[in-house]
Amino acid sequence: MSNIIDVGISLNQKYKITIGQQLGQSFKAYCEAHYNQNRIFVLIDENVNRLHSEKVSKLVSYFKDIHLIEVPEGESSKSVTEWNNLTNKILEIGIERSTPILAVGGGVTGDLAGFVAATVLRGVPLIHMPTTLLAMVDSSIGGKTGVNHTTGKNLIGSFYQPDAVFSDITFLETLEQKEWITGMAEILKYAAIRNPKLFDVLKELIHQPLTPKQRWVEVVEESVRIKADIVQEDALEAGKRAYLNFGHTFGHALEKTSGYGKITHGEAVFIGMIAACHFSKELGHPVSDARFSPFLSLYKKQMSPLTVDTKALLEAMKSDKKVKDNTIRLVLLNEWGSPYLYSCEDHSLLKKSWSYTLDKFNT
Ligand SMILES: NC(=O)c1ccc[n+]([C@@H]2O[C@H](COP(=O)([O-])OP(=O)(O)OC[C@H]3O[C@@H](n4cnc5c(N)ncnc54)[C@H](O)[C@@H]3O)[C@@H](O)[C@H]2O)c1
Repeated sequence: MSNIIDVGISLNQKYKITIGQQLGQSFKAYCEAHYNQNRIFVLIDENVNRLHSEKVSKLVSYFKDIHLIEVPEGESSKSVTEWNNLTNKILEIGIERSTPILAVGGGVTGDLAGFVAATVLRGVPLIHMPTTLLAMVDSSIGGKTGVNHTTGKNLIGSFYQPDAVFSDITFLETLEQKEWITGMAEILKYAAIRNPKLFDVLKELIHQPLTPKQRWVEVVEESVRIKADIVQEDALEAGKRAYLNFGHTFGHALEKTSGYGKITHGEAVFIGMIAACHFSKELGHPVSDARFSPFLSLYKKQMSPLTVDTKALLEAMKSDKKVKDNTIRLVLLNEWGSPYLYSCEDHSLLKKSWSYTLDKFNT
């Protein structure tokens, strides 16, 4: 069983995101309808290839000439060097404007392969097959592709929409716990900015990832729907799309201050959402971070105490690339499900929210 969500790119252009279990038949039918059988490039995360090679071979069996190229796992693959490697391999083998690239993996593979598809021959068809929870509910939707630069993350890239996305949640059977909680932080973000009912659903499901599978399909589907709604209203990130940064301005500062790799992105976002929630409450909005409490122990379990100081966190927030005219822009909540943008000049309130949040994690 699968569910399909349309994502509008422009008035008369859209693509479909199919979510479900064992999507081999749907994928095959899609390919038969859209591509010739000649050739496909499969850019696949090395771990996913190791764990799911049989399934992936079956998926692409419609094509006569299959070129599978592994992407080394990890954030360091999102580089100009890896983009260059992949592009060289593809051009040496030979690619036509109509030859599809299938990206199979998490956000790293999706962003990198997406950028390869966007640039080779000035753009070839791209299909995303996300295999992490984060990639299913977040990075495969919205068309952001790109790589990192030594001066910062995601500084080189383009908006490039896929032809289609296939989110087969059976890939998640092999996902490690830390990747589950990374994806879950983004789902909690959707709960906070759009659909607070997701808090209750996740509360029931968190202790047994992927059980029952159909409920997880529904959670992924609702998350996709929320992200798709937001990005189609603001494809180029000029306005509402900023709401997707709820918790992220705080979270990025924490990642930077703790030293990248010490804390995962999901943990940082989770903590950042508590800080953003506390800040909103201090401004008088009726939101309490108690909504995040059922998930606290899960996030705390893997983390060492946070030894960062609030002064360093504020400095990191000031240097965030999203800072405009020296004003820190925060996404806050008027109430649950209702985000707004706030230009923060009162840094004492920021400090207070950080102290509150760090205490919560260190006790
Ligand atoms: N384009 C966007 O809009 C967008 C949005 C959010 C995040 N991102 C980007 O996404 C990236 C993070 O993505 P991620 O969290 O998926 O990380 P990732 O792609 O590095 O995957 C995390 C780990 O899971 C492994 N893995 C993937 N699928 C697996 C599976 N089914 N079973 C077992 N292991 C599996 C990978 O090998 C890797 O070790 C970052 O680079 C971030 O910048 C992009």
